[in-house]
Formats: sequence, C-alpha cells, structure tokens
Amino acid sequence: MFITFEGIEGVGKTTHLKWMAEQLEHAGISVLTTREPGGTPMGEEIRDILLAHRHERVAPLTELLLMFAARAQHVDTVIRPALEQGRWVLCDRFVDATYAYQGGGRGVETDLIAKLEKLVLGDFKPDLTLLFDAPTAVGLSRIKKRGDVQDRFEQEKLDFFERVRLAYKARADQDPVRHKIIDASKTIDEVQTVLLALTLSLTPSLTPSLTPTLSQRERELKKRGEGE
Ligand code: TMP
Repeated sequence: MFITFEGIEGVGKTTHLKWMAEQLEHAGISVLTTREPGGTPMGEEIRDILLAHRHERVAPLTELLLMFAARAQHVDTVIRPALEQGRWVLCDRFVDATYAYQGGGRGVETDLIAKLEKLVLGDFKPDLTLLFDAPTAVGLSRIKKRGDVQDRFEQEKLDFFERVRLAYKARADQDPVRHKIIDASKTIDEVQTVLLALTLSLTPSLTPSLTPTLSQRERELKKRGEGE
C-alpha cells in the first residue's frame, strides 16, 4: 500500500504521517516512511539545492525537472522495492505536490507536468492520497510560530499558497477515489481519530489491534465535547 501525505505548509502532515506509521507498526505492518523531494542520498542532495535561498532566479522549469529527477531516483531505488517486499510506504509529498506547487504556485502548464509524470512514473500512482486542508492563513501562522528559518518555498507569499491549495483541491476533485480530504484546521486528536478510522477501513484485519485505540480516542473526544 502506497499512501501519500499532501497539503500546504503548516497543516501537520509530517506529524500525522509519523503517527500513522507508528499505529501501523503497532498492528504488525512493516512500514517505510519517506519524503519528497528527498528519500534517497541523491534525492536529499537535490532537496538541499531546491530549498536553498539563492541570488539567481530559479526558472520554474529547472525546479520542475529537479523535482522529477529526485522522484525518479526515489521511485526506482526506494519506493518500488519496498512495495515489492510487501511493505507499506508512507510518503510525505509526491507527484500531487508538483501539480500544486509548480503547476498552481509557479504557473507551469499542467500538460507539461503530465508529460513528465508519464515519462518518470508511467501509470504508477499512490493507492491513497491524504490531502490535509486548512485555510492558508492557518497553515502559514503555524509555520511562523515554529520560528525556524524559512526555506525558499516557505518564504513565498500568501497568494502563492492560495494557488497551491486550490491546485491541490482541483487534483482531489479530478480523482476523488484516490484522495481523502482531511480537515486539518481541527485539533491533532480529532485528525488522528479520523486517520485511525481510515486505517481500519483500509485493512479490516488490523481491527483487533487498533479498535481499542480508536474507541478510547472517540470516548475521550466525546467527553471533552460534553465538558465544553
Ligand atoms: P516539505 O515542506 O514537505 O518539507 O517540502 C519541501 C518543499 O518542497 C515544500 O515547500 C513543497 C515543495 N515541493 C514542490 O514544490 N514540489 C514537489 O513536487 C514536492 C514534492 C515538494
């Protein structure tokens, strides 16, 4: 099973990915967690190039090709081999991020992205894509609160992320079976309850090990709701 985690910055996808991986491992599934751009030694070097601030303008096509270069290495040497071994792969961003950031954000033609997708991935796609969605201002205020030095993408303005968010949603609308949109403006606990229910629906055989956690979380949330 190949699951990708998508969304604008500050929606909590990385935290949720780690948490879901822990739940799956707890239920006896072998999980590989990885990310894009990156996920291989060469891909991580390409990531550094992509995220670094630089004095020269970065042409959208350069950015696009580097994303796909890192992805080609990642799919060939890490993702496919893991899936062939029967492992679950949880990936922090994948090709939908290219449609959202390079397509929506930078204005690269969708047709061009689709051509590269075909060249690099053929018909290979995630089985499930979780799109963590929250108002752009919410995501950006969360990354500001973190106080880390911002990378080349994070320093973009609100309207860039608005376009990215809309492009993500358009992708989800085009392929609703593969996508699950998760309201990331909810609390971490609430999102995790949704994720756990989703995990159970994917693999009913996990029910005995994960159901107690789910019912406990639902009870806690309900109690909290009643107390408010
Ligand atoms: P991260 O925030 O998930 O660590 O990802 C690093 C940045 O890379 C993020 O700002 C989004 C950007 N990105 C693209 O622009 N296109 C892509 O295809 C991918 C995978 C990431």
